Amino acid sequence: MDSLIFDSHAHYDDEAFDSDREELLASLPQKGVCHVINAGASLKGSAASIALAEKYDFIHAAAGIHPEDAFGLPEDWQEQLSQMLSHPKVVALGEIGLDYHYEDACPREIQQQVFEAQLRMAKERDLPVIVHDREAHGDVMALLEKYRPRGVVHCFSGSAEMAREVVALGMYIGLGGAVTFKNARRPLEVAAIVPPDRLLNETDAPYMAPVPYRGKRCDSTLIPYSAAKIGDIRGVPAAEVLRWGRQNAAELFGITL
Ligand code: NI
Repeated sequence: MDSLIFDSHAHYDDEAFDSDREELLASLPQKGVCHVINAGASLKGSAASIALAEKYDFIHAAAGIHPEDAFGLPEDWQEQLSQMLSHPKVVALGEIGLDYHYEDACPREIQQQVFEAQLRMAKERDLPVIVHDREAHGDVMALLEKYRPRGVVHCFSGSAEMAREVVALGMYIGLGGAVTFKNARRPLEVAAIVPPDRLLNETDAPYMAPVPYRGKRCDSTLIPYSAAKIGDIRGVPAAEVLRWGRQNAAELFGITL
């Protein structure tokens, strides 16, 4: 079987998988999944991400500090992260970025400092970044333009215009379950215009399960539902969308298919 599913963003270290993680992960390669990038969100989550990548050939790790975890970091967080980035199965720095959704979460200045520090680390190491942008489009774009990293804006929620700007910077657009949601408008506009060589498929598992599984626990085997929706909009079969995403992710993260 031709395994077409490259999940460019998942969190299998999440507690939602505590009851059956080993069983589920062991089953993925038989269900059409060729590779998964497991994204870290904290120092602890990044270490867990690396542990999964050590255990499973098809899992690769990203290590980084998510904006919601940017508050109260230990003084030596950059050294700790830096050490993790040297691990042979770490293929990206992420997920990192800005999240202005919750007013009382991590203060914006701290989020920005931690994001910038990680953008610099990625540049120094020539590592791609996995960017989280929630209700912070203007500030995220300004920093991407300043540092011009390689990488992807995952779970892309910006406008088609912003998608064009991200692509013009040479970056990729990650699309997942949100394209299937009933109220989806922007993700569909973006899905219609993203160049085939700039699209990544993703889940954000355990979150963002596509319709008809919306609200349930998500895993990489559900990617064909969002690929089918993107394919509908573009007039190509889901398999074609999966092939685009697989090729692009392999190139961005330096993974041999
Ligand atoms: Ni995520």
